Amino acid sequence: MSDCIYLDHHATTPCDRRVVDAMLPWLTERFANPHSDSHAAGREAAEAMNAAIETIASTVNAPASSLLITSGATESINLAMRGVMTHPRNRRNHMVVCTTEHPAVIDVATDLQRSGVEVSYVPVHPQSCSDASVPGTIDLDTLKDAVTDQTALVNVMIANNEMGAVHPIGEVARIVHDAGALLHCDATQAIGRMPVDVAELGIDLLSASAHKFYGPKGIGFLVAGGTDRRVRLRPQIVGGGQQQGLRSGTMNPAGIIAMATAIGLGDDDGPRIASLRDRLWETLRGSIEGLQINGPSLSDPASRLSGNLNFRLEHVEGETWMAATPGVAFSSGSACSSANPSASHVLLAMGLSESEARRSVRFGVGRFTTPEQIDEACEQLVTAFRRF
Ligand SMILES: Cc1ncc(COP(=O)(O)O)c(C=O)c1O
Repeated sequence: MSDCIYLDHHATTPCDRRVVDAMLPWLTERFANPHSDSHAAGREAAEAMNAAIETIASTVNAPASSLLITSGATESINLAMRGVMTHPRNRRNHMVVCTTEHPAVIDVATDLQRSGVEVSYVPVHPQSCSDASVPGTIDLDTLKDAVTDQTALVNVMIANNEMGAVHPIGEVARIVHDAGALLHCDATQAIGRMPVDVAELGIDLLSASAHKFYGPKGIGFLVAGGTDRRVRLRPQIVGGGQQQGLRSGTMNPAGIIAMATAIGLGDDDGPRIASLRDRLWETLRGSIEGLQINGPSLSDPASRLSGNLNFRLEHVEGETWMAATPGVAFSSGSACSSANPSASHVLLAMGLSESEARRSVRFGVGRFTTPEQIDEACEQLVTAFRRF
């Protein structure tokens, strides 16, 4: 990479050196097809891959038999949502989606809606909420009203990729299960940043991507059956019948071993990362007038990812500041939708105006970020800002 200071860890993370070391032999000397059970090399690959799957499952406290390996969160989400809603034995035609979900969820919902599925969108608490509710977290009263005996699936992410809000998933699960529906959580931003226990939280389906927790890109997993509720999925990719016919295609031992190594490294050190994030915020706030936080309070670690900083500027657009500060990698919205010039749907859903959303920026501090990098980034950001 160019020698820019990387503060965009919600977009992706570097592959941890320990992950690369664990993965490499399975690409070179030990490359056999794990489905070739007629020879020892294939069986060796299958054994190592299955041990890795056990590691991943046990880290999120799900049965290994419920784990499906995919190419990443987008595929996992597609399989979870389309798989449940289009299963021939699913008799419920209604689905619920939180308004601040990633496009990987929203776009699947829109597509299912076109083919006849009914979709309800549940809002989050606005930025300006005056009561004790946490901005950016799901409105549980509206969720209760939205879920009916026709609801098959409710989709609520664990943590938001833009402003880091952490939803009260345990409470969401109780509401969902009282109506006899299943809960799917996009855990893409949560895994590796906070403990996730699907059994304790009551998550039936969970999607994740290894590259968000210091693993490689192009590999992820779906838990389909994290609780004792039955999950029936209609496969979306058919072919050789691998993974109980639910996701065909030769499995990728190197990627799976890498993902298991990455998840096994444990979660980021939240307090250390939060202190770097706070150092960034305090320095910028001390040098630039009128900055305002988007999302939950930075001093509420239970409601906000520790490395996340999202704020709005008084007059300057986020894109303009980014272009003027090429030495720092940060973002003006979610990376996955940055090809789309429209204002962040997440910030709009929190009640920000279009102009406020466009004046917003997102930073993500990561495992290898140093205090010196934060200080240097602040210097470059402030210098660039003073030229406006
Ligand atoms: C919350 C969330 N969900 C889903 C995705 C999609 O992940 P991937 O691109 O790895 O499939 C992302 C990626 O930014 C994300 O942040």
